[in-house]
Amino acid sequence: MAILHIITAPDPRLKQLSAPVAKVDAEIRQLMDDMLETMHAAPGIGLAAPQVGVLKRVIVLEIDREETKVGPLFMANPEIVDASDDDAIYNEGCLSVPEHYADVSRPAEVTVRYLDRDGKRQDLKCEGLLATCVQHEIDHLDGILFIDKISALKRNMILRKLVKERKERENAL
Ligand code: NI
Repeated sequence: MAILHIITAPDPRLKQLSAPVAKVDAEIRQLMDDMLETMHAAPGIGLAAPQVGVLKRVIVLEIDREETKVGPLFMANPEIVDASDDDAIYNEGCLSVPEHYADVSRPAEVTVRYLDRDGKRQDLKCEGLLATCVQHEIDHLDGILFIDKISALKRNMILRKLVKERKERENAL
């Protein structure tokens, strides 16, 4: 296994559409395992392949909180096949938008269909933090970040800070 580099915004790779996985083979399983290790090291509760520069529809999730314990979950080609009418608001963050958080509203419950690490089709009903997390990660596969779901004013403020911090890091080298 290997810890991969996590891309941070703004970066054009985070805005691209990822391609479906044809088959969950050894290469995809290796990617899933490396992504899980990378996510644990960060640490985070979800990671999507484009965040490590791989434009494939693969996500991993693992939540170990008092209210929600689930995973690790490995998903190829995840899609939302059912969503509740009622929404839930969660203060989201993202490993590609480090140190910034914002309230995002999404369906409170969703059913996600995906291929697991063995290539078997699964339907999983998600609620609470897992529902938020799985929707956030699937958005990454469509080039959408949580900051795309907040006001342009707040998004631009966060992006300006991220650019400034990146310049400061580069100048410190
Ligand atoms: Ni994210």
